[in-house]
Amino acid sequence: MGNRETTNSQELWGGRFSEPTDTFVQRFTASEAFDRKLAVYDIAGSRAHAEMLEVAGVLTADENHAIQDGLTTVLEEIERGTFEWSVEREDVHMNIEARLTELIGETGKKLHTGRSRNDQVATDLRLYLRAELDAVGGELSRLQSGIIALAAAHADTVMPGFTHLQVAQPVTFGHHLLAWNEMLERDYARLMDCRARLNQSPLGAAALAGTTFPIDRHATASALGFTAPTRNSLDSVADRDFAIEFCAVAALLMSHLSRISEELVLWTSAQFDFIRLPDRFCTGSSIMPQKKNPDVPELVRGKSGRATGNLVTLLTLMKSQPLAYNKDNQEDKEALFDTVATVQDCLRAFADMVPAIEANKETMRQAALAGFSTATDLADYLVRAGTPFRDAHEVVGKAVAHCVDAQCDLADLSLEVLQQFHPAIQVDVFEVLTLEGSVAARRHFGGTAPERVREAAAAANKVLAAR
Ligand code: ARG
Repeated sequence: MGNRETTNSQELWGGRFSEPTDTFVQRFTASEAFDRKLAVYDIAGSRAHAEMLEVAGVLTADENHAIQDGLTTVLEEIERGTFEWSVEREDVHMNIEARLTELIGETGKKLHTGRSRNDQVATDLRLYLRAELDAVGGELSRLQSGIIALAAAHADTVMPGFTHLQVAQPVTFGHHLLAWNEMLERDYARLMDCRARLNQSPLGAAALAGTTFPIDRHATASALGFTAPTRNSLDSVADRDFAIEFCAVAALLMSHLSRISEELVLWTSAQFDFIRLPDRFCTGSSIMPQKKNPDVPELVRGKSGRATGNLVTLLTLMKSQPLAYNKDNQEDKEALFDTVATVQDCLRAFADMVPAIEANKETMRQAALAGFSTATDLADYLVRAGTPFRDAHEVVGKAVAHCVDAQCDLADLSLEVLQQFHPAIQVDVFEVLTLEGSVAARRHFGGTAPERVREAAAAANKVLAAR
């Protein structure tokens, strides 16, 4: 045997080759620098595979035990940081197997019986993603619980609701917050859908066609916590749709977080001044001493771009690949890892920050008073008095135009002035022109009335508790 480089490539597939791999090609095709993240799942998969091979009579009990013990040592080395990763051993799978063989000798070489790196990597990636997905789900639930608590505390706090970013109709802050929760609730459901589909075991598909050994795929599937083995060996090694699906769910979730971010950025501005974020979630300016910038929401808004980018990367990677496995698929990892890290960090920052949001109730109230937000309530009042809605709309439009000229609000007009716009208007009109009257009147299911918001918050909490 020659130098370490040739020794290693010859160890792995040297039989067929007449010269060692070019050193640049070796680096170019290697993935150990990033797929080492999969090591603990790779070892879990190998353990299940070896146990099953013993039961199937392919490995002796002694061989299996030697492999299990050797893998324990390998895992310890990796966790301690003493494991020597080598680019010559290309990827996480071959690094671990080669080290195992160094540790336990010839028996280490038997571990790869009846499997391939193709089903191995597909298994590792599903195990990895299942664990990360559960962690993402946990952080998402924590964020939702903070949002719901804040909503319950602000069931009566009135703020303007917007369309076109123009004051539209009064709503309660609690209702607005529960709208965020609805978006996130659907993201959670999508996450769980994705989990159910990815939770099947590709192990045993081997390179693509299965294996001639008497393997028990149901046994390895259940040992690894999968609900079942995948049904087709070609598909098992060929598709990464589970990773694409996760990235799609994450991109949409990040897109929701970016909308929430944008609102937080607007609301903390001096122009809105609806809320305050505690100093620990903000940063200052190196030149402008007065500044307190909402960096956390801004950064989350910005990071949503990565999540979309990673989704496009994976879709493009998969498109047009002929079945079954192609080396292209090695490119799935960094995009997936980046999305996982991004979404986890953003959820963590938000889950920590949201409960600390302080509402500036008075500014919210003033803003709701400013934009004729109860104009629709006046129109509805006229409809109840027998006016067709279109005519009522016209009448109120004229009253608003009058107020714009007079620089006052509808509620500031006297009954006599209001009656000049429509004779059906009576003194009880002032009940519908107040903000509290306006929100309280929207008391149907899904409405903004404080009583409905309290009920909706309680229902949302129940959904969380049932997870
Ligand atoms: N590092 C490879 C990947 O990420 C593992 C599978 C390699 N299989 C192969 N036949 N080259 O996909």
